[in-house]
Amino acid sequence: MDMQTSPATALRIDGARLWQSLMDLARIGGTPKGGVCRIALTDLDRQGRDLFVQWAREAGCSIRIDAIGNIFARRAGADDSLAPVMTGSHIDTQPTGGKFDGNYGVMAGLEVVRTLNAAGVRTRAPIEVAVWTNEEGSRFVPVMMGSGVFAGAFTLEHALAQRDAQGVSVAEALAAIGYAGQAGAAPAVGAYFEAHIEQGPVLENHERVIGVVQAALGQRWYDVTVQGMEAHAGPTPMELRQDALLAASALVAEVNRIALDRLPHARGTVGSLEVHPNSRNVIPGRVKLSVDLRAPDDAQLLDMDAALRAACARIAAERGLVIDVEQVVYFPPQPFTPHLVEAVRANAADLGYSCMDVVSGAGHDAVYVARVAPAAMVFVPCADGISHNEIEDADPAHLEAGCNVLLRAMLASAGVVA
Ligand code: GLV
Ligand code: MN
Ligand code: MN
Repeated sequence: MDMQTSPATALRIDGARLWQSLMDLARIGGTPKGGVCRIALTDLDRQGRDLFVQWAREAGCSIRIDAIGNIFARRAGADDSLAPVMTGSHIDTQPTGGKFDGNYGVMAGLEVVRTLNAAGVRTRAPIEVAVWTNEEGSRFVPVMMGSGVFAGAFTLEHALAQRDAQGVSVAEALAAIGYAGQAGAAPAVGAYFEAHIEQGPVLENHERVIGVVQAALGQRWYDVTVQGMEAHAGPTPMELRQDALLAASALVAEVNRIALDRLPHARGTVGSLEVHPNSRNVIPGRVKLSVDLRAPDDAQLLDMDAALRAACARIAAERGLVIDVEQVVYFPPQPFTPHLVEAVRANAADLGYSCMDVVSGAGHDAVYVARVAPAAMVFVPCADGISHNEIEDADPAHLEAGCNVLLRAMLASAGVVA
């Protein structure tokens, strides 16, 4: 399909409508600081899902829900036997999340559908908008759970069996919100595009509107348990303690060091700490902590894994306690599909938007979808590069630009019936 001669070339999304959808969705789980707390598979997640399903149905889409709760809203194509051109992201958030992380990609997909409807454009291939389950990995690990099952990165059974800190399983939580759908093989996807805020400062620093995403960092996540011994904070001499929190603190510093030793791209974070029994006058007997390691190169990520294990062994030996390391997430760095990446770049340029190549430091559903379909991402800046924070913000004009690029790239893949 020659886009230059197509009336679709003149199509533009409605930026005000996109913004309004984002603001309406952000009311579900909205926080006093202006952020969103809509944790995966909670009742607030259900409310967000229900609103999306309502909007998608109003836009003429049919709805399909799979066994891990991914939602697919489908706008029929002229040839409905073709594999759909898909977009989407997630609407679950971090506990102190913002209005845009994930939500933008889903609302941008809906805006593409609404734009095609308003202009009466028929695509040759169907268009689908996906809402992936539990992308954040905050309540349930692994992260990017719905897209991971879809792409076969891990099994449905593994995902359904995962439990949150209260012992509730994914299967139970899905059933409770009414989003446990049909099991079955994942259907083929013709092409997948995901729009997302950058969640870092590069685009803003370079004053660019569109990030052409080349790849995403690989990640390894761990549950680490430090087993010491509880004892009285008063009578126990300092030299006789097996203080699990003290050992964990040394490990937190080591994780930071592991990344600092591998700049500029490596990352190392301890984001969660559970101290047992968490009482002021008891020397901590057990600490569970999360470790999140990221790198652009799989060999470097493996080297960081070795450094983490060596640090754990050394700290355990020095302090006379036991440290157990369990890896709970691993995916290698994921390059995106060259011809779709080029389509993002060409359409951004065509539309007159400044753009630059970027690498994603965050994980995204596109990372897993890229294993089973051609995939690419469109980034737009966010204010001060801040995300996973209630103050997360984005310029409506940038969101509109990213959605226009998404629309054009999807039309180029799906084809337009004159
Ligand atoms: C997803 O939010 C990630 O942690 O990269
Ligand atoms: Mn996200
Ligand atoms: Mn996120």
